[in-house]
Amino acid sequence: MGQTWDPAVYEQHAPFVPRLGVPVVELLAPRPGERILDLGCGDGMLTALLVEMGCDVLGVDASPEMVEAARSRGVPARVMDGHALTFQEEFDAVFSNAALHWMTKPDEVIAGVWRALKPGGRFVGEMGGHGNVQTIAAALRAELAARGLSFDALNPWYFPTDAEYRQRLEAAGFVVHTAMLIPRPTPLPTGLTGWLETFAQRFLEAVPRAEREAFCRAVEDRCRPVLQDSEGRWTADYVRLRFSAEKPKNAA
Ligand code: BEZ
Repeated sequence: MGQTWDPAVYEQHAPFVPRLGVPVVELLAPRPGERILDLGCGDGMLTALLVEMGCDVLGVDASPEMVEAARSRGVPARVMDGHALTFQEEFDAVFSNAALHWMTKPDEVIAGVWRALKPGGRFVGEMGGHGNVQTIAAALRAELAARGLSFDALNPWYFPTDAEYRQRLEAAGFVVHTAMLIPRPTPLPTGLTGWLETFAQRFLEAVPRAEREAFCRAVEDRCRPVLQDSEGRWTADYVRLRFSAEKPKNAA
């Protein structure tokens, strides 16, 4: 079993994801009329913003439920695996917010983005970077190990350093304008268990159903000293990797 997405549950537990993606749209600096691919568009909130800005946008996402939610906002969207993009020199830019960390074969993704871009096209995105949710990950690792389960065998996340991702982009032919890690502590509106149920399903499903609640409590107990304040509010230790790259005009 893997990660599944329910747009209504996602909006309840993670309304901050599209809101905090606005600076990435600013880095993209979209111009009216540009043809833009939103890679991992989710429920289409930011895709809709690009439409409002006058762009000709297509969203793609691996989740049929999310694509349906995006379409119901009036956003053109298709179900597609980001590891196997099928476009050929169609887009002025590829944009991605909070999605690339779910794609664990980054070179396949980057190769597909390269093919999808016209020469001179931009690849601008933000994803979880090295050190992202490290307190939560350490707690998951310890509680899984206590039950004979391996965090590494289950891990669905990819959080590279800025240097690693830059190197991968350059190896594919991109000119990298910026690649930086940005610590961004992120308040969790429905607490840590709400976050785990939304983003850590792969780990929770490995734990027998009858033990899941106790597992979440144990993860909370480990994280509490770092991530919960004296008023009971939870803040996740997010670190973003934000980057901007270009396919050179003279690219073959
Ligand atoms: C993130 O957006 O950083 C994130 C999403 C899912 C799991 C872990 C981190």
